[in-house]
Amino acid sequence: MKNIFAISGSLREGSSNHNILKFLGKMMPSGINYTIYGGFRDIPAFDPEIDNNISPALVADLRERLAQADGIIICTPEYAFGVPGALKNALDWTVSSGSFSGKPTALITASTGGENAHEALIKILGAIDAKLSPETTVLIQFVRSKMNSDGIVTDRDTVQKLKTLTEAFINSL
Ligand SMILES: Cc1cc2nc3c(=O)[nH]c(=O)nc-3n(C[C@H](O)[C@H](O)[C@H](O)COP(=O)(O)O)c2cc1C
Repeated sequence: MKNIFAISGSLREGSSNHNILKFLGKMMPSGINYTIYGGFRDIPAFDPEIDNNISPALVADLRERLAQADGIIICTPEYAFGVPGALKNALDWTVSSGSFSGKPTALITASTGGENAHEALIKILGAIDAKLSPETTVLIQFVRSKMNSDGIVTDRDTVQKLKTLTEAFINSL
């Protein structure tokens, strides 16, 4: 059994990114234990002063979940031409723990535009040594027009891109 840990960069109720992660969950082959992370909202602001000695419980929990993961999927929108603060904050807590180091990782940026966050995340994930490749990275623009009101991805091209990415990601585990 392989563990896949999925993280949404949007906390919004009915988030397109969360819906994409649910959609990916349905595509996972047998033998995969797929979990969407729900603890983002309450992770405290990153503080290098306490990073290595008294890290907060939610940070320790996140690091433990990342450690248990065989692969990580990040699916996020862009806010104000950048990476959403909650996601960036969580990633900052993983720099010293090396939680992403060598881990097969998929990055989906699903937003209106999203180019800036996507490019920034490729750099950030590179800096924390995540195992990312062009095959496990996709930018989905105008995301809300690509799903229906039930949060199901309806755009054929997007469905195909997500399938291709999922296959490449599973093969990289
Ligand atoms: C505060 C705010 C800032 C945003 N800034 C951007 C932006 O810079 N670039 C972009 O592509 N979309 C931007 N958006 C639009 C989001 O991409 C869009 O709302 C997306 O659907 C959010 O993802 P979600 O549906 O998973 O919550 C912004 C949305 C909000 C609420």
